[in-house]
Amino acid sequence: MRVAMIGTGYVGLVTGVCFSDFGHEVTCVDIDADKVAMLNRGEVPIFEPGLDALMATNTEAGRLHFTTDLTSAVKNADAVFIGVGTPSRRGDGYADLQFVYGAAEQIADALDGYTVVVLKSTVPVGTNREVLRRIKARRPDAECDVASNPEFLREGAAIEDFMRPDRVVVGSESDRAREVMRELYRPLSLRETPIVNTTLESAELIKYAANAFLAIKIGFINEVADLCENVGADVQDVAKGIGLDGRIGSKFLHPGPGYGGSCFPKDTLALARTAEEAGAPTRLVEAVVQINDARKRKMATKIVDACGGSVSGKRIGVLGVTFKPNTDDMRDSPSLVILPRLLDLGAEVTAYDPQGRREGEEMMPGVKWADGPYDVCQEADALVLLTEWNEFRALDLRRIADMMRTSVLVDLRNVYRPHEAARAGLAYTSIGRKPSAPS
Ligand code: UDX
Repeated sequence: MRVAMIGTGYVGLVTGVCFSDFGHEVTCVDIDADKVAMLNRGEVPIFEPGLDALMATNTEAGRLHFTTDLTSAVKNADAVFIGVGTPSRRGDGYADLQFVYGAAEQIADALDGYTVVVLKSTVPVGTNREVLRRIKARRPDAECDVASNPEFLREGAAIEDFMRPDRVVVGSESDRAREVMRELYRPLSLRETPIVNTTLESAELIKYAANAFLAIKIGFINEVADLCENVGADVQDVAKGIGLDGRIGSKFLHPGPGYGGSCFPKDTLALARTAEEAGAPTRLVEAVVQINDARKRKMATKIVDACGGSVSGKRIGVLGVTFKPNTDDMRDSPSLVILPRLLDLGAEVTAYDPQGRREGEEMMPGVKWADGPYDVCQEADALVLLTEWNEFRALDLRRIADMMRTSVLVDLRNVYRPHEAARAGLAYTSIGRKPSAPS
């Protein structure tokens, strides 16, 4: 089929490339001419493992194109995906839909022949219906339907999540649109991937409810971790013990410095606002937003405590600043709260991240940057492991202890075990476990 993808960000680009790999003819559209030029040179503007190779293969096969010309892309398409950003609106946390509605109006003007307009962006309940209303108002003659097709892509695993999803969710009011969507995802039906056909509103809410539930699961295990610290329990064992219950599941029970990223923070806020407005407030979601925000600040205190109560004049090395490994994305990363706080308290902070330096330098002035994990340990008073990149999982802890001025390791992702850190000569603080002194 012929697909137009409006927006080439984390979601739009991955979706467009993967649809072309299904054999569809895909034209990705962006208003940013520089970004389109970069894509046409075969360069990928985001860090997503495997995306460059997949993009090259399908561009060479002549199935994948990049343009700023929305009109021509839409005219020839059977399905037009809206994959533009829906950031939190400054101040009130509502989803900012200006880019969605802007794209919808341009699409309306370009429609030619029956077309399904598919909302891939995460949008509040009711947005699909509003988009259809706006298109019909602008083009009463247009033959089109809308479909809600939310994404469940994790950054760093987005291609895997697209190619092997747990399910595809399609919200629609028309059999014809549902048939187009089934055809688009046909390669997945060969793998018997369930397609959940439902209404527009239910599909929109599935996306928010899924992300909010995952965020609540993280908030829950983080609070349990704090309790473990106060009662002498080990959160890793507690997480394992509850996760083996099939009704709970072991995923998303890793305690840490709080969740970040381009989705959980904004989607939990947007859901809470929508629910409030609809007269059915989601108190649990509201609580996890507060818990998560407070947690990031609390991690700075944890580091100060591990340094004996003050970091003034102390040198702190930081491993990882992105919100999770295998991404260059810094949006709402815990580092954006923790590192500036340490600087405010008089510390000298040096960070290393395999992909986060470019954005980190802009977003955290005052932080020094190193080129490798051991460079941040030189003469440091504390080392903080903040993002669990694989290259931080087998560091030579004894070498690190020998390089540091005072050998304190604060492991905010529980990558290491207390006894191995102690054996290497490190005073070790982690999440949900008792601190350990050097042995
Ligand atoms: C998330 C959802 O997983 C995905 O389905 C949705 O489409 C987009 O939002 P993403 O934000 O890319 O994906 O990353 P994810 O792997 O979900 O992690 C989100 C945050 O939660 C990260 O900051 C991560 O460090 C944190 N996290 C995740 C935990 O703290 N503990 C966990 O057990 C899992």
